Amino acid sequence: MPELPPHDIADLGLAARGRTRIEWAEHGMPVLGLLRERFAAERPLEGQTVAACLHVTTETANLVRTLAAGGADVTLVASNPLSTQDDTAAALVGEYGLSVHAVRGEDAEAYYRHIDVALDRRPTMTMDDGCDLVNRLHGERPGQAARVLAGTEETTTGVIRLRAMERAGALRYPVVAVNDTPSKRLFDNRFGTGQSTIDGIIRSTNLLLAGRTVVVAGFGFCGRGVASRARGLGAEIVVTEVDPIRALEARMEGYRVMPMADAAAHGDVFVTVTGNTSIIRGEHLEAMHDGAILCNAGHFDVEIDLAALEKLAVSRRGVRPDAEEFRMADGRRLVLLAQGRLVNLGAAEGHPAAVMDMSFADQALVMAWLSTEGPPRAAGVVDVPPGIDAEVARLKLASMGTAIDVLTEEQETYLGSYDLGT
Ligand code: NAD
Ligand code: ADE
Repeated sequence: MPELPPHDIADLGLAARGRTRIEWAEHGMPVLGLLRERFAAERPLEGQTVAACLHVTTETANLVRTLAAGGADVTLVASNPLSTQDDTAAALVGEYGLSVHAVRGEDAEAYYRHIDVALDRRPTMTMDDGCDLVNRLHGERPGQAARVLAGTEETTTGVIRLRAMERAGALRYPVVAVNDTPSKRLFDNRFGTGQSTIDGIIRSTNLLLAGRTVVVAGFGFCGRGVASRARGLGAEIVVTEVDPIRALEARMEGYRVMPMADAAAHGDVFVTVTGNTSIIRGEHLEAMHDGAILCNAGHFDVEIDLAALEKLAVSRRGVRPDAEEFRMADGRRLVLLAQGRLVNLGAAEGHPAAVMDMSFADQALVMAWLSTEGPPRAAGVVDVPPGIDAEVARLKLASMGTAIDVLTEEQETYLGSYDLGT
């Protein structure tokens, strides 16, 4: 048996099952597959040591394989304590020879210990989903930042944190905001979070959504996806927002819009997806009816006030996998899914491969661009170059067998002119 790479995973015995699932996801990721072939031939990441802090899923496995095919020496660690698929981690180590340090359900000590292992490799590039690795590097090992050529960030909350670091003058190398590019955010956040959040709710409860009232807190890129998928299953949707434009959009989509103080008494299911903190607080929990279900699809487990829920409860018990019932003093029961962590990754498998194909094609192309051409500035938050975005969309359309029109010469001239009017 060949020597295994450094790892800390739950059970190497799960490797064969993990490999089958990674191959299943691979079929749904044709664009990334194409890039993997290109990377194997061109080796754009030769010489790079990559610390990747991402959800350890079958889709991520195919991204990491692509980076390795491109010549990178990759260490993968979890970007959330609950999102690791242990069979995927096992297959990456045992079947693909890649270094993984991640265990589903790991505590905070293990979570950061694993991040530290990736940083011990002295990365020249970082990939983050939520900014925990970048934050750890800058906070605990500022001397290492000078060694890092550049990084990428996968999610909205990570980009928000990076921009705050940049404003404070604390960000010491360039990080590309992959989240913000249209071929990621318009598809992954909306269609991916929309479907996989509903998937997590249904897997953990087996609830019939038809006829229920679903309260969606936050009508951003993710929230609108969740709302539209829940409506598609027959739920009545209530949206809570703080941004007047987004609240108006929700209203004109035909959803009811109201403050959480009013929504609390109406909802059968509550989904927080704001990227903000303390969205559902003690006073809201007090107003909820018996049996209300609470879950979160925002990056961190701070959107539902878990301390308030625990304080109000007189008892708690697991009622199904990933569902815990809290009994209040007045006898009401509130059900929390996936410990208030990302419900789509904690109670389901995250976004389907077909949508991660685009997000991770963006990631792979950005990494190759950074490695071969060099970042455009020394430090700060950097946009994905528009050429990459268009290439991913073109490749995805081609993989779906969908052709589109091309501007004629006359149309190009017309669009570039100002003298042709009525
Ligand atoms: P976004 O900025 O597009 O939307 C967030 C919305 O929440 C905004 O419209 C904002 O006005 C609203 N909001 C903020 N505070 C609020 C409050 N107190 N009450 C009600 N609404 C409030 O962000 P997004 O791209 O939709 O991402 C949202 C969160 O989901 C982030 O944490 C992001 O990292 C995470 N995310 C999760 C997944 C997943 O797989 N679960 C995928 C992508 C993004
Ligand atoms: N984020 C949301 N879904 C994901 C998935 N399937 N893999 C990796 N990151 C994700």
